[in-house]
Amino acid sequence: MTDHGMKLENLHPDLPLVQNALALSHNYARRLIRPGDTVIDATCGNGGDTEFLAGLVGPDGLVIGFDIQAEAIARTTDRLAKAGLLERCQLHVASHDRMTALVSTQVRAVLFNLGYLPRGNHAIGTQAKTTLPALAQALARLTAGGAVLICLYYGGDSGFDEYQAVLAYIRTLPVRQFSVQKIEMANATNCAPIFICCEKLKD
Ligand SMILES: C[S@@+](CC[C@H](N)C(=O)[O-])C[C@H]1O[C@@H](n2cnc3c(N)ncnc32)[C@H](O)[C@@H]1O
Repeated sequence: MTDHGMKLENLHPDLPLVQNALALSHNYARRLIRPGDTVIDATCGNGGDTEFLAGLVGPDGLVIGFDIQAEAIARTTDRLAKAGLLERCQLHVASHDRMTALVSTQVRAVLFNLGYLPRGNHAIGTQAKTTLPALAQALARLTAGGAVLICLYYGGDSGFDEYQAVLAYIRTLPVRQFSVQKIEMANATNCAPIFICCEKLKD
């Protein structure tokens, strides 16, 4: 590990310097999340991110997961059970805009991997009408120094509505409360996903 908690394999000189949105989100999460933390996976899907977060929070931490599809939560549960990580996770078949109702504690990080379930129904993707309230609730739930990390997919079956709404929303966040960063590919020929970090500033 480095001083910043990054795993050395992510800094290997043979790896490309430019990383995709998912790799950036995981690397930010590695820097941010400590053993014992409570974090949220707002879009469990196939459970890859949930498993990753469960590894970061360790046996004394907690990952609270959301997905509207029972199929996604079943896949996530199966994956966590196989990895021996299920006990440190609390999963909800529920929309992430019910976060305030279902989560009473402050959290260190909230991950949003927006879009549709890979190997699932592409018609059931995240939508601005629930994503924006969920983002607001996630930001309100953060501890000082915590962050909301977003992989924003657009184009193709994801369309452009949510993408435009999320970009418009993050521009409105008060600069004294949040540092907001957006990283996108400048020369991609397709709609490469965008990475967004909203960090809650310390008082
Ligand atoms: C791109 S996938 C997530 C990938 C996942 N993190 C993984 O590692 O496999 C997006 C997921 O968001 C879910 N989703 C859509 N609308 C949602 C909502 N309102 N609340 C929670 N999850 C939602 C979809 O069912 C889908 O499984």
